[in-house]
Amino acid sequence: MMNTVPLLLASTLYAATVTAQGDILGTATVNAAIARGTPSHLASGILYGIPDAQGQIPSEFYTDMGFNYGRGGGSRLPSPALGWVYGETQFENRFASALSNYQTARSYGAPFQLLVADLWGADQTSVVPLPGDDGNWTSYDLFLDALFEALTDNEMTEALDFEIWNEPDTAFEANLTQFYDMWARGYRRVKEAFPDMPIIGPCSASRPYVGESFWAEFLAFVAADGTEPQLYCWHEESSSYDIATDLEDFNATLAYYGASYSPVNINEYATEDEQVPGAIVWYVSRLERYDTQGLRGNWAIGYSLHDYLANLLGKPGATEDCTDADTCAVSTGYWGNGEFDVYRYYNLNMTGERLATTGSPDALFDIYATSDGTTVRMLCGSRLTAGTWDIAVTNLAALGLPDSGTIVIQSYQFNWPNGVFGDVPSPVNQGTYPHDYSDGTLVFYVSPNETTAYAFEFTI
Ligand SMILES: *[C@@H]1O[C@H](CO)[C@@H](O)[C@H](O)[C@H]1NC(C)=O
Ligand SMILES: *[C@@H]1O[C@H](CO)[C@@H](O)[C@H](O)[C@H]1NC(C)=O
Ligand SMILES: *[C@@H]1O[C@H](CO)[C@@H](O)[C@H](O)[C@H]1NC(C)=O
Ligand SMILES: *[C@@H]1O[C@H](CO)[C@@H](O)[C@H](O)[C@H]1NC(C)=O
Ligand SMILES: *[C@@H]1O[C@H](CO)[C@@H](O)[C@H](O)[C@H]1NC(C)=O
Repeated sequence: MMNTVPLLLASTLYAATVTAQGDILGTATVNAAIARGTPSHLASGILYGIPDAQGQIPSEFYTDMGFNYGRGGGSRLPSPALGWVYGETQFENRFASALSNYQTARSYGAPFQLLVADLWGADQTSVVPLPGDDGNWTSYDLFLDALFEALTDNEMTEALDFEIWNEPDTAFEANLTQFYDMWARGYRRVKEAFPDMPIIGPCSASRPYVGESFWAEFLAFVAADGTEPQLYCWHEESSSYDIATDLEDFNATLAYYGASYSPVNINEYATEDEQVPGAIVWYVSRLERYDTQGLRGNWAIGYSLHDYLANLLGKPGATEDCTDADTCAVSTGYWGNGEFDVYRYYNLNMTGERLATTGSPDALFDIYATSDGTTVRMLCGSRLTAGTWDIAVTNLAALGLPDSGTIVIQSYQFNWPNGVFGDVPSPVNQGTYPHDYSDGTLVFYVSPNETTAYAFEFTI
């Protein structure tokens, strides 16, 4: 890794000309001539992260991070809220959590995905009976009756995605035929009761590609059965996955197995390690490039799963595994961490029009950019990798700039002090630096480490 820059400006930007060519790992680009529509900060969804007591997290945290999609179903709540397989009261209490989270989401205009597997009681804490065990569907049918009644009685049908099962490739590993039977049965019941409710699936742990065994069977089944989901989902939670190639592979996989296209929703993204400013910006950049909604994965357990907006906040006494309903579950005094600042900048500051970008060819560094006609803003980060990459902003004439000149760049560093519960009020203002450019293209470089992200701004 390059480490030749003076201390004062270490990890910040320089004119590319001062660096030996060999130090640069690759180039990410921003094309100022291609506008890609108004930003809707597609990566601002979250898995769980919403306390069951409404209003516990002050509203400015939701509105600052741009919260725009929720997903829940009472996972990890203790008895008497363990879910359907433990009895009717255990179902009702778990449903109450989902309803409360749904109402919170709706109060911010966000749609909500219902994690039906968690309402059933299959939240990966213990082995439970699955729908259709021993070919007996009585309990599943009664479960859907109770669930549909609860959805109707509580006016919980608008902007709700019905997720038939979470990670069926793992949960039904022993008998995928049983999963397809449930899919066909559940799908038809939902469509009969709520014809307009989108079905989302399969929300697998595995990514799609031609030849991937779970996806091969799933797509062939739903295409033949006439039960294709309205939203496709899977989880990008492996360091060996890459959203960019996975989304391309998904289209090829649909075509190969004869299924038709529906939009993709990546309803869990980023491994626990990747939930740091740099790697999150890498995910944000890719989700935006492919116009794909994403929800942050959530790696907390117990009541902590139902808190912190999926690991964007801290509070006094914060833990990742709260089990006390009277203390850590309900206490307040929230602040934002270093990642929260990234989402806030992404949501509040990056306005106007999105600009077309490309990530670096090594797939380790990526960039998201906007222009509001006055200021160009760029947010960039690497995937858990320290190094130096160039950023090239091309077609500057499209912004009304001359062919050559000097551009003064303002830079901010998003860092990660004290980890997931670190109190980080704002990014570090790293000041301005002038860059000469020519041929309508500005080139400068940035040296993130394993966790940092950077924002660069210039006035047109
Ligand atoms: C099927 O499951 C229901 C509910 O769990 C149970 O009451 C019934 O006895 C089961 N039927 C058979 C044939 O095992
Ligand atoms: C798998 O599930 C199907 C459908 O529910 C059932 O008919 C079959 O007996 C199951 N197979 C095994 C090995 O349990
Ligand atoms: C996948 O196909 C859809 C529908 O044709 C298209 O809109 C989308 O851009 C494609 N995605 C990729 C990554 O090629
Ligand atoms: C982002 O925008 C907000 C609201 O306009 C402003 O207060 C803040 O200083 C901006 N942040 C940065 C890093 O420019
Ligand atoms: C990354 O850079 C930040 C900001 O300079 C620093 O606080 C942090 O310790 C660095 N992390 C590593 C792993 O070097």
